[in-house]
Amino acid sequence: MPLLTNLNGHIAESAQVSVLDRGFLYGDSVYEVVRTFRGRHFGLHEHLDRLRQSAAYLYMDVPWSDADIQAEVEKTLDRADWPESYVRIVVSRGTESVISLQPSSDLKPNLLIVISAISPEPVLSETGHHLVIPKRIRNNKLALDPAAKTGNYLNNILALLEAQQLGADDALLLNDRGEITEATTSNLWIVRGGVVQTPPVEVGILQGITRTFLFQILRQHQIPHEEIILKPSDLDSVEEAFLSSSVRLMMPIRQIGERVLPQCPGLITRFLWKALLDLMEQSASKGTLAGGD
Ligand SMILES: Cc1ncc(COP(=O)(O)O)c(C=O)c1O
Repeated sequence: MPLLTNLNGHIAESAQVSVLDRGFLYGDSVYEVVRTFRGRHFGLHEHLDRLRQSAAYLYMDVPWSDADIQAEVEKTLDRADWPESYVRIVVSRGTESVISLQPSSDLKPNLLIVISAISPEPVLSETGHHLVIPKRIRNNKLALDPAAKTGNYLNNILALLEAQQLGADDALLLNDRGEITEATTSNLWIVRGGVVQTPPVEVGILQGITRTFLFQILRQHQIPHEEIILKPSDLDSVEEAFLSSSVRLMMPIRQIGERVLPQCPGLITRFLWKALLDLMEQSASKGTLAGGD
């Protein structure tokens, strides 16, 4: 897979991070995944806001301005010889001189950008994903809040592996109150009685950037929608459903547990997909950050 890295401003085919980097030792880092559309990063401004919120949650310093990070992202993208990229922006707390859980007082954070080629045109899957509810629950907000996008994704990895062992593509995680949260790297949306529903942030989810853009579209087109606490039994009446995330954008859901959904992709899913691509197209043609300046 074609790949380019940028570690603290140095571009290479593959960066070498120290074994004493706290991101490597402990997952002591924050990150964002952005995609390009028509060769330009989409929603970078929103992603950098969330990166700072995640860093603040970890009491971590991000010494670069948004303009600094944007310049490094663009410098790296300029070197890509492929049209569209996955862009991963990682800030680790820094590299230790000796292994210690206690962060040293003189640590300097590391900024790593990794880009790789993605499909030149986004395509809505016609087969969709099969989800299962695993035994494993989503991290408790009071332990490690899923709203912070940290380098510690073990909760998600273990849920994904459990779902795959059950023959599914992905997991739909419950919280400790038995409420539906999200999938391992995406937010859940369902349609019931023609209303688009998604779990609220308070159940313990990452507040997806794609989720925010979808809310914007739902409002704009006056499509009935709500944030609502959902229990597994609510899934029995789902007409159509999909997941949202920055690189794949939207993934229709074919089956949840044993239940095959009546539509996949459903009509509302198709409508939102087109509206999302239109939004991205507008943002790319303006050459500005989506939803931003
Ligand atoms: C746990 C989790 N939830 C939701 C999302 C979707 O967020 P976004 O739309 O910002 O990519 C992601 C994406 O990384 C994720 O890891």
